[in-house]
Amino acid sequence: MLYNILVHAHSGLRWIVLLLLLAAVITSFRKWQAKDDYTSGDNKLYLFTLIATHTQVLLGLILYFISPKVPIFGSDIDFGTIMKETLYRFYTVEHITGMLIAAVLITIGRSRSRRMGGATQKHRTVFTFFALGLLIILVSIPWPFRIPGAGWF
Ligand code: HEM
Repeated sequence: MLYNILVHAHSGLRWIVLLLLLAAVITSFRKWQAKDDYTSGDNKLYLFTLIATHTQVLLGLILYFISPKVPIFGSDIDFGTIMKETLYRFYTVEHITGMLIAAVLITIGRSRSRRMGGATQKHRTVFTFFALGLLIILVSIPWPFRIPGAGWF
């Protein structure tokens, strides 16, 4: 059913988001330090990283309304219980908050870098915002060793 497809898409897309973010963070750091050019290839890498992140947020938002792990819509579990149960609280509050902050940072990083004058400043701006976004995403992912029932892909 749709729910299963969405969970697997959302779970698998994490790896693409992580790989693109890692590539973008390494590239922007190297080119910032080396005072290298801002090529159309760099621009594409940063843009695809943003698009992958936004797609992941979109899938997450749909899941938020239909997942049994977020029992705030059409369930009789009250909010106090949700906040007391680690699993419910993680998806209802912690996961969405961390991921939305990270996505906003990545969005600001890309749009600010576009308004910057020089190549070095562009790479530095992308590095600062994307690296912070990556860190927040890494700690907000339900890794299977931390969150019971979560998968690797
Ligand atoms: C870059 C951003 C994000 C990443 C990398 C990410 C990653 C993940 C991963 C790896 C899972 C576990 C899937 C599994 O158990 O196999 C998950 C579950 C989930 N995510 Fe996200 N997520 C992101 C953003 C969001 C956002 C913004 C929301 C809500 C608006 C969201 C809502 C959910 C929900 C509700 C689940 C639980 C699905 C279920 O098992 O029922 N995610 N996410």
